[in-house]
Amino acid sequence: MKPALIVHGGAWDIPDVAVSACKSGCERALTAGWQILEAGGSALDAIEAAVVILEDDPVFDAGYGSHLNLDGRVECDAIVMDGSTLRAGSAATLQHVRNPVRLARKVLENCPHMMLVGDGAERFAQEQVIKLCANEELVTDAEREAWSKCKMGKHASVFHRGHEQGTVGAVAMDRNGQLFAATSTGGTCCKLPGRVGDSPLIGCGCYADHEAGGVSCTGYGEAIMKIVMAKTATDFLRQSSESAMSVARASVDLLASRTHATGGLILLDRQGNPGWAFNTPRMSYGYVQSDGSTVTGV
Ligand code: GLY
Repeated sequence: MKPALIVHGGAWDIPDVAVSACKSGCERALTAGWQILEAGGSALDAIEAAVVILEDDPVFDAGYGSHLNLDGRVECDAIVMDGSTLRAGSAATLQHVRNPVRLARKVLENCPHMMLVGDGAERFAQEQVIKLCANEELVTDAEREAWSKCKMGKHASVFHRGHEQGTVGAVAMDRNGQLFAATSTGGTCCKLPGRVGDSPLIGCGCYADHEAGGVSCTGYGEAIMKIVMAKTATDFLRQSSESAMSVARASVDLLASRTHATGGLILLDRQGNPGWAFNTPRMSYGYVQSDGSTVTGV
């Protein structure tokens, strides 16, 4: 099989000033993932490497630089899914894990369960030799300032350089035809502590089935959950003869028509063809073309 890789840095109202940072974050994530795939490495290693880059980049709402919850703390969710076994590894409401996607992978590989949350998830992280960090180490000055302003008055996206959501994700297929997808997020600003969005929920923020394709979603979690968007898109891929791009569009159209909400997604069909769509003003994304060159867009 020819390897394939697509990433996103979230569907949101990305202001002009953040466009180049979003594109370069996606470019670096593609480079990290593609190096692995090109060398014959696994799709799982590739999505992990790509998402770690996006989590470490504060322009995105995942890992370091995530939005703060109502208590002023970073609280992250992540998932990875294996398209061969239909097994997922998911971790939610993490407050002390720098790279939530790494913990999600450990859940996938080494845990009898598919989803862990809160203290239990972080205890498992330590057992898996993932070092915990102080919550403050995940907080940026920009998010602290935005949170202070949001707390004072009506929540306003203007305090977040225009952004409301910047969830990240990746979908990859390796030479052996193994398909994996991942999604990671800090969730929504000023969310109630303990709130879990779509991202770490199998079928909502992420899904992979090597018979159909792999999907990672971004946008307003409470709406994405309503239409189980990642699984819905995968079902479209399974059932229709439409292109990957048309399926991505149909999935976002369904989100809009049934929930009147905004969001986006990236996907690979079972041949590794990329698709993406969004109904927000912008979404940052990138993919590797069949000749190995990269395309990024915002
Ligand atoms: N889509 C990210 C969230 O709502 O948490």
